[in-house]
Amino acid sequence: STSLEANGELRGRHVIVTAGPTHEPIDPVRYIANRSSGKQGFAIAAALARLGARVTLVSGPVALPTPAGVDRVDVETARDMAAAVDAALPADAAVLVAAVADWRVKPSGSKIKKQGTVPSLALAENPDILAGLARGPRRPRLLVGFAAETDDVIANATAKRARKGADWIVANDVSGDVMGGADNRVHLVSEAGVEDWEEMPKEQVAARLADRIADAIA
Ligand code: CTP
Ligand code: CA
Repeated sequence: STSLEANGELRGRHVIVTAGPTHEPIDPVRYIANRSSGKQGFAIAAALARLGARVTLVSGPVALPTPAGVDRVDVETARDMAAAVDAALPADAAVLVAAVADWRVKPSGSKIKKQGTVPSLALAENPDILAGLARGPRRPRLLVGFAAETDDVIANATAKRARKGADWIVANDVSGDVMGGADNRVHLVSEAGVEDWEEMPKEQVAARLADRIADAIA
């Protein structure tokens, strides 16, 4: 067989991957967003598909082609993403790579115009997709979250793992040029402790994580 053929380790398994940012509309022309490019999440979806998994990729607005063999669902807001993940259940694993906007505003139906005063945006908290999956009745057997941090990376990721009920947290330091960049240096936080992976291309992080997921759920 050729190297392009799935080796089938994950055949028969369904994995949900979220990727990219979400956009939270302010009015018809403006939105709240973040710097997520979607590269790491798309690479993970591709790597899982190469291992034979059925992959549902729920993607926020990104400028990336759909990886081969992946079912892609495009969404805009955090609430759309939560609904699309829910609709894709059940799954054997979920890998939530998306940089979900923490807050939304009640959008104005018409463009907000400059007036004498500066408008203030009343923020509401978005649903936490990862925490909801962890607590829900259809929890995937393996739940993997990401934690993009600028400070106290390991401590924050360890606390996040416990707070959200994830099995693994893949933590990275985004104070440099990781967001949008080609490489990533991550730490895998699990019940077993913390593994520090060397800096490598996002595709390689993806391949290694997919192998670990296959070990866990195959
Ligand atoms: N996440 C999610 N739904 C949200 C927010 C985050 O599913 N509304 C997921 C992300 O996809 C990621 C993990 O939770 O896998 C951690 O996201 P992060 O933003 O680091 O966590 P927060 O709890 O939002 O904490 P912070 O205050 O650091 O942003
Ligand atoms: Ca957040």
